[in-house]
Amino acid sequence: MKIIKVKDYDELSEKACRFIIDKVAQIEKPVLGLATGSTPEGLYQRLVEKNRQDEVSFKDLSTFNLDEYVGLAKSHPNSYYHYMYEKLFKHIDISMDQVHIPSGDVANLEEECMEYEKQIRSVGQIDVQVLGLGVNGHIGFNEPGTPLSSLTHVVDLDSSTRKANARFFDSIDEVPEKAITMGIETIMESREILLLVSGESKAKAVTRLLNGEVSSEFPASILQKHKHVTMIADEEALGSN
Ligand code: F6R
Repeated sequence: MKIIKVKDYDELSEKACRFIIDKVAQIEKPVLGLATGSTPEGLYQRLVEKNRQDEVSFKDLSTFNLDEYVGLAKSHPNSYYHYMYEKLFKHIDISMDQVHIPSGDVANLEEECMEYEKQIRSVGQIDVQVLGLGVNGHIGFNEPGTPLSSLTHVVDLDSSTRKANARFFDSIDEVPEKAITMGIETIMESREILLLVSGESKAKAVTRLLNGEVSSEFPASILQKHKHVTMIADEEALGSN
């Protein structure tokens, strides 16, 4: 794993933006895997700016998001579709039919999972998968205990994840109990992974990710086995690592 240590969140966002712009420029029809949450917000802001300044075009880009809450319509202010549309897609020159996010409000969730996995395979491979890190070691919404061989599936969200994400909702009771997520194997099949980690609250998870054993009890530990991972982490998240 390549570790890029940065001073703070601004520098993390700047470096991540440069990383993505370089990849998009190098690949003819780039496929990006995207994450939501707080960590990639600065990256998305910068990608919007660079696109406005004509430093990068996203017209040949396809995207696949990691996850979506079950039960929230696309238009719900806390759906990940809404997040992605508001923070990135509506501001850039991407074609919306090349954007993929699982739907959490369909009648047949199992079918949606299989269809999503099929869509990813139909483009070949995700070139760069952007990941954040859960305090409990989740990647995507693969909570502790998720089989390392999992494909896109429906998960019960951990109480620590619902608590952490309650900051986006009026109360914890409104945080959905389930989500659809790319599986651990789906993520591991990406050609390259860009892991972004910021803040002291992630320091213990970073230590376990780097030094702990590979185990489904701490899903992010599997990244030790991926051949092409770049982690950009700030000083607070890296702690003494
Ligand atoms: C988001 C996702 C999650 C987050 C993780 C960290 O699509 O899949 O794994 O990346 O929960 O979230 P933040 O960045 O809010 O700390």
